[in-house]
Amino acid sequence: MFTRKSSNTVQEVNIWSEPGIYYDSLTRTFRLRCKNSIYAFRVDDSRNLEHLYWGSSIPLEDDLLFLGFGNNPTPFDPKGYIGDVRESLNPLGFADLKQLDSDEVAEKWKTYTVEAHSPQATEPRRLENASWRIWNMDKMRKSGSLSNVDADKMIVEEDSPSKSRVLHVVHEPCSDEACTHGKYLTESWEMMSGSEKEEEEEEERKEGRGKRPSGYSLPSRSGSSKRSPSIRIGEGLERNLSSLDNLQDEFQSCSRFGSFASPTPRQQQQNVWINLDPEIVGKNTKLLEYSDRGTGDYRSCSFELEYSDGTTLSPLVYSSHRIYVGKLSPPFPLPGLFVNSDSDASTLELTMKDPLTKVEVVLYYTVFHEYDVVVRRTLFRNTLDESLIIRRCYSCTQDFDTDDFYLTQLSGSWARERQIVTKKLCQGISLVESTRGASSHQHNPFGVITIGEPAEDRGEAFALSLVYSGNFRLEAELVESGRLRVNMGINPQQFSWNLGPGEEFSTPEVVLCYSDQGLGGISQQYHRLYRYHLMPPMWRNKICPVLINTWEAMYFNVTHEAVVELAKKAKECGIELVVLDDGWFGNRNNTRSGLGDWKANRMKFPFGLEGLCREINELGLRFGIWIEPEMVNIESELYTKHPDWCLHIPRRARTTGRNQLVLDFSQQAVRDHVIEQVSSILSSCNIEYVKWDMNRHLTEVFSQAFPPERQGEIAHRHILGVYEAFARISSCFPHVLIESCSGGGGRYDPGMLYYSAQIWCSDNTDALSRVQIQYGTSLVYPVCSMGSHVSSIPNHQTLRSTTMKTRTLVAMCGTFGYEMDVRQLTREEVEEIKSYVELRNEYAPLILFGTMYRLWNPFSSDSGAWMFVNDEKTEALVIAVNLNRSIGLQLPRMHLKGIQEDWVYLVEELCPGKLRTNVSTGAIETDPRGVFQWSTKMGGVTLKLSGRTLMRVGVPVKFIFEGDSLLFSVRAVSLLV
Ligand code: DGJ
Repeated sequence: MFTRKSSNTVQEVNIWSEPGIYYDSLTRTFRLRCKNSIYAFRVDDSRNLEHLYWGSSIPLEDDLLFLGFGNNPTPFDPKGYIGDVRESLNPLGFADLKQLDSDEVAEKWKTYTVEAHSPQATEPRRLENASWRIWNMDKMRKSGSLSNVDADKMIVEEDSPSKSRVLHVVHEPCSDEACTHGKYLTESWEMMSGSEKEEEEEEERKEGRGKRPSGYSLPSRSGSSKRSPSIRIGEGLERNLSSLDNLQDEFQSCSRFGSFASPTPRQQQQNVWINLDPEIVGKNTKLLEYSDRGTGDYRSCSFELEYSDGTTLSPLVYSSHRIYVGKLSPPFPLPGLFVNSDSDASTLELTMKDPLTKVEVVLYYTVFHEYDVVVRRTLFRNTLDESLIIRRCYSCTQDFDTDDFYLTQLSGSWARERQIVTKKLCQGISLVESTRGASSHQHNPFGVITIGEPAEDRGEAFALSLVYSGNFRLEAELVESGRLRVNMGINPQQFSWNLGPGEEFSTPEVVLCYSDQGLGGISQQYHRLYRYHLMPPMWRNKICPVLINTWEAMYFNVTHEAVVELAKKAKECGIELVVLDDGWFGNRNNTRSGLGDWKANRMKFPFGLEGLCREINELGLRFGIWIEPEMVNIESELYTKHPDWCLHIPRRARTTGRNQLVLDFSQQAVRDHVIEQVSSILSSCNIEYVKWDMNRHLTEVFSQAFPPERQGEIAHRHILGVYEAFARISSCFPHVLIESCSGGGGRYDPGMLYYSAQIWCSDNTDALSRVQIQYGTSLVYPVCSMGSHVSSIPNHQTLRSTTMKTRTLVAMCGTFGYEMDVRQLTREEVEEIKSYVELRNEYAPLILFGTMYRLWNPFSSDSGAWMFVNDEKTEALVIAVNLNRSIGLQLPRMHLKGIQEDWVYLVEELCPGKLRTNVSTGAIETDPRGVFQWSTKMGGVTLKLSGRTLMRVGVPVKFIFEGDSLLFSVRAVSLLV
């Protein structure tokens, strides 16, 4: 426990309980403290990053070196590596200063400070930092205030807001770049008495030491700056810095690389750099954070580089690190998580270096303080004066110690997206991937590792979700020892990147999420995290309008007259927004022509979109349109003018899909043209919603705009181009709500979610199919992002008929809209829809922004059920839908979740059914009083029960026919006495 002083009061605070990033220099361990979990790794004796732990919270004081005892070397694994890496191992500048005494170092520091002001002064700046650090540590040691501070990574300086002592975790020398992108981590910890502090302050003022620059230009989605609670220092991490010499010795010892170096007696005595590892083991045995190929690790590697001499080895060693509050965004236009305030997150930026080539690989880890989430990405920096090729660059490698591993993934096909699939891992590699140029209907960039079969509410779950919409791969390799490696990132298949001298390449982000409460715990975190830190903030608290889409009502037969007629009837139903889907532009009468010509078809819309929009607005409705900007039909003006603008290989045939070709979005000219076209439509009238579709996957991935050696970059460049188009259009039209779509749910991923607040879940609008699709989608994605509509019966994809009630309840668990020809509705049906729209509007805040608990899994049982609970736990809504009824079988009682045990709740059935079975004859009969779950002769019964009973005992429920459904409202009425 440490004592933290805030104004005049002294509080006992356990600093380890604060989320943030801690570095223990004695064991060289990084502890990423999340809300209720820890992620830890260390720099081993060979300067590899050895992964130690990812799981529920453990005392941060515990020395995690014991985990190294699990590394059992095997006879066939290479064990050591000797190389001349001296130079790369002195990044902190200590060697330059090691001969000097403390006063001389102080003098040096002042000189370097002056020199460092020159813009080109990298070296003085580096030395400035090194000398200041040595001098300051020595000063603190002499004053007795520092017996347990990590000398190389921590500085002490003023913190103006609190005027108390601040420990800064530092880093590499403060380069300009570092100072403009991140604020140094600050926190107040009382390390000395008030008078000592004042003396110190005075002394530092005399020394002329100013505050470290803290200018911080946040990415556009970030909020205000706040101080972070993160700091690392403490009991149990003691290192006796008895003299400056020791410090120098220690750093000298660092420059002796490899497991074979023998320690000096002093090093042995002081337990410094080379003495930590319990046993010499090679890379193949250890759990690693980011692993190379060809120097002893035979598992699937994290990255692969190819140099101009044809060699592909790049063993990386730890070089330096820095820790700061907040989070850096990945380079534009890569989507990524953002903070709303600096105090939301802490970031560790750890640089690894190839000792021979000096190529740098920077690993980013961001801890989101309110979650059990670590966001990772990797950056490659070519420090050579010639190009190199990146052949593989995963965003992360996650190694797990031996256990009973299961992988759960979201897989499927067109109209059957994101089905939950679980398998037990066995020795070998399992891949979840896309090579289609989009994240795809087939696999989602997501996976969960569980110990044992996954459960909804219990057990450890480790999830990975990639913020990327292009070719991705998650590979899970269970190796001979039973240990597991999971890599995730851009799919290395058909990928290569030519990295020129001085250039950098950033991978997409991967969002790691931990829960010891099973899949439910994972989903709840992703829902909240993605709503607050990924989706466009403008929409996060808005209830999306109830819309009607023309597609299933009219397909390509849209005309001004027909749409206005539809709009009028929609208005009667309580619908708010009319979306004109495919068929309104160019010569678009079927899938064969028109894509690329983004001008209204005057035959169908004589008054243009302007005229239609005006008329719809006059009805009191809003207006939206469908576009598919990434595509072109051969039968189009665009293709006739620019046949080279599509992805293709000269002299080879062009593969069409849905009669269309893919525009080459890696080309700036193509993007500019499309963005210009779309912008001109959006500014032509009051368009408030856009459905951005993408109806085929990529083939002949080759661009005319790039040389042969860059063709491996095109798939990635293409998706970057798509992101750029989203970014530019949404920044010009921020009021336009974008729903992305790809032949249904073929691009439902965090990358798209960054740019579009809604995503069309599937082209399958059948309510029962949707139960599984939306349930699977909810593993990662928030309900408020799921595009879901009520469609007509029989359903156009399955020919199945379900009741309006079931169709409505399923669509209500998403953005909610209609995909039917309301012109055909009877007065009675209009009234029915109207009352359902009112019901949806009443419960939309609870559904869209409440916490979702899944109750029954439709993949492992005959029904799906879930509920939404508000933050106060005073209100909940339960929805269940039967998919397959086994006549005569009673259902298990339904156990509610997420409410308060000791509160009393009223459970009321909303919209009871209409049909019942006559038990004497077996005939189906209509009951005008309604068919309730619980009823007496008087009618429906409302239950009044404690939360404890509702959750532990559960309520009896029944389904009368296949496809039947139920809806309960649950309201807290009193405390249990
Ligand atoms: C595929 C979408 O998923 C459908 O909803 C519809 O917009 C069609 N494309 C239009 O071509």
